Amino acid sequence: MDVANREQAEHWAAVAPAWLEIEDHLERMAGEPGREAMDRLGIGPGQRVLDLGCGAGPTTVELARRVGPDGSVLGVDIATEMLARARQRAAQEGAANVSFVHADVQSYDLGLGAYDRAFSRFGVMFYVDPVAAFSNVRRALGAGGALGFVCWQHVTANEWMLIPGMAVMSVTGRPLAVPEPGQPGPFSLCDIDRVHQVLDLAGFAEVEVIPRDDVVSVPDGEVLDYARGALRMGAARDALKEADEATEARAFESVAAALGEKVHGGQLRLTRGVLVVTARV
Ligand SMILES: C[S@@+](CC[C@H](N)C(=O)[O-])C[C@H]1O[C@@H](n2cnc3c(N)ncnc32)[C@H](O)[C@@H]1O
Repeated sequence: MDVANREQAEHWAAVAPAWLEIEDHLERMAGEPGREAMDRLGIGPGQRVLDLGCGAGPTTVELARRVGPDGSVLGVDIATEMLARARQRAAQEGAANVSFVHADVQSYDLGLGAYDRAFSRFGVMFYVDPVAAFSNVRRALGAGGALGFVCWQHVTANEWMLIPGMAVMSVTGRPLAVPEPGQPGPFSLCDIDRVHQVLDLAGFAEVEVIPRDDVVSVPDGEVLDYARGALRMGAARDALKEADEATEARAFESVAAALGEKVHGGQLRLTRGVLVVTARV
């Protein structure tokens, strides 16, 4: 495992417990764009599919359903804590055509031409060397194979992350630790030209990057729950890692107030911007 990807492994191991507690919150943000990326990739019966950075496995199980009993799905993730939940989910849902491997997508030997499709929902932005990682994925795809994923646009296109982050910052008085575009992190592939550059260098063809902007609505009565979830992920969570109870309480009030200002007509409405990407071998 690349030493710097090891930092990501440690990060995701630390994030996992909170992440697994807010699955519904995450699903609300990631579910729809993930389904669109899956639709565009064209997943069908009998295919062999990789789920890159599969996390707790909701998409792995969905892919397994789409490929049916004659197909198979391998979920790959760098964090064992995430994979434990993914394995549990697959067993609960009776997905027999699924397996998981604890590995770094950048360096793990995925086999030569062994897959028809490689998919990811927000799991491919964390590589220290993205060209190496996507080249590795490309080698694993056979003739006619394709890659499809969804990643975040810049944070400014994502009020659902931006607003809680700013509210926490106003309490801690310190800037949030958000990696620069190009560095491993949620926004590393937020630039369309960079996505093209990385995938071209990795040897992919017919790269298509579609920006999608929409609004996520949360009913007024769920805003406080939403605020709790927002504090348990991303840069907001990192900023409060060593905070005492009083600071945490002030951060919660600040996030709830900032979100409250975005409630109109009984709905909290926050922008969400993603890039839906497809490419062929
Ligand atoms: C934002 S989460 C997305 C999880 C899942 N795809 C979902 O949509 O719920 C990113 C995932 O990528 C994994 N990850 C990060 N770097 C990785 C790497 N180099 N190889 C494999 N998995 C990695 C993390 O452990 C984490 O589970």
